[in-house]
Amino acid sequence: MAADLVLGLDIGTSSVKSILVSADGEVEAVASKPLSLQTPEPGWAEQDPEAWWTASGGTIRELLVQRPRARVAAVGISGQMHSSVFLDKTGAVIRPALLWCDGRTTAECREIEQRAGGEEHLRAWVCNAALEGFTLPKVLWLRNREPAAFARLATVLLAKDFVRLRLTGVMATEPSDASGTLMFDPAHLRWSREMLDAVGLSPALLPDVGASAGVLGRVSDSAAKLTGLPSGTPVVGGGADNACAAAGVGAVTPGEAVASWGTSGTVLAPTVEPRVDPKLRAHTFCHVAPGVWYVIGVVLSAGGAFAWFRDQCARELPEQKRDDMLVDEARGIAPGAEGVTFLPYLQGERTPHRDASLRAAFTGLSLAHSRAHMTRAVLEGVCFALRDSVMILKDLDLMPSSLLLTGGGAKSAFIRQLLADIFGVPVTTVNREEGGAYGAALLAAVGAGAFMDLKTAVQRTLTRQPLTPPNPQTQRTYEQIYDRFRARLGAARV
Ligand code: XUL
Repeated sequence: MAADLVLGLDIGTSSVKSILVSADGEVEAVASKPLSLQTPEPGWAEQDPEAWWTASGGTIRELLVQRPRARVAAVGISGQMHSSVFLDKTGAVIRPALLWCDGRTTAECREIEQRAGGEEHLRAWVCNAALEGFTLPKVLWLRNREPAAFARLATVLLAKDFVRLRLTGVMATEPSDASGTLMFDPAHLRWSREMLDAVGLSPALLPDVGASAGVLGRVSDSAAKLTGLPSGTPVVGGGADNACAAAGVGAVTPGEAVASWGTSGTVLAPTVEPRVDPKLRAHTFCHVAPGVWYVIGVVLSAGGAFAWFRDQCARELPEQKRDDMLVDEARGIAPGAEGVTFLPYLQGERTPHRDASLRAAFTGLSLAHSRAHMTRAVLEGVCFALRDSVMILKDLDLMPSSLLLTGGGAKSAFIRQLLADIFGVPVTTVNREEGGAYGAALLAAVGAGAFMDLKTAVQRTLTRQPLTPPNPQTQRTYEQIYDRFRARLGAARV
């Protein structure tokens, strides 16, 4: 590597995280800053893109304070997918970004299907269904609902690409994030002229598409002053957070699968070609490894559901220890939470329901139940929702004999065992816990020439932990409780 370290940045939903990684893959420094989420109406979710940039600059400065003599060879950025940054012709943000978990665009999804001439065309052009969280419906929402703002619209960017713009002055994206917009053809790796024509949008709204490990820009003088990075430091394409998190645990080749427990929850399996779920319940996107795609099932509220429950129902617990104390309470309750079920659909659901109007529910509560039962039900409900995606991967013959885990939830031994028991497969993690930021750092290392390609980077830096197998008796119990979870769906229809 031309210099000592690479920097991985992850623009999440609850925080921005930056890490410095050495040439042999060791994490040398970590910094993070929290982000807040605005929900102006039920089902809506917004963030100010400038808050991502402020937090990014802050974490980078902190890293360089921790390691003042660090020489950064390259920067890689990972970020929340689909979230729409609307910019005017000067590059100023027009309004807050509509996030991946925003469900306000159902009318625009129907409009897209109608303008495209049916879902078959969506499948052929962009490999995915029109779902509220994707970027295109958000652009049409702006056109339909805020025409004055739309009149000023010059560019639509994704979260990490906006941070790249502020860092380098360059507007660019790469296939893993472009494929989540519903405007990109994942099979031919180009913006979909067919889709843009059908909805009447100009391709000039969209940035150029480069490679995830290619150098797409360099730190500008003004960003150098703000972050402390040397001006001219290369910034690679980076990738969508799910693709980077998969890379961060080594899931870059077909035959692997990884479940992530972050604000959202996902189950992802790399494929050798774009595989499309016949019922379009799961999504099909490009991976950050060239020539690899993946199928992904998405649970909109995973860690997000737990965080909501914690913030509403456990405020009296000491802030730093709240998560651990709640998980300890849940541990004391038997599988199935003595009849309490939680449906985690706080923001509607993508996989498998494709229904933005669903809402969360507790069922089966009695006077005999306590918060501990509810906590257990929340954790189980998220795992059951993820199991719906595991079942789709099984249907598509993409489910390996064990699953990699990533995301904040994977750090908890209790959650790892719960996932193994509810999925009925052994699970494992790797020697790194930084998820998307780590994957972004590996892409930066490839871009800086430290590794020939991403596969080599993964092989040289990651080792697997021993498998956590399911407990056979608990697994049997959960088979029945999964049926109960599925049978309760009616309670989520409001
Ligand atoms: C994936 C999705 C979420 C976000 C979370 O389709 O919407 O997993 O990427 O940041």
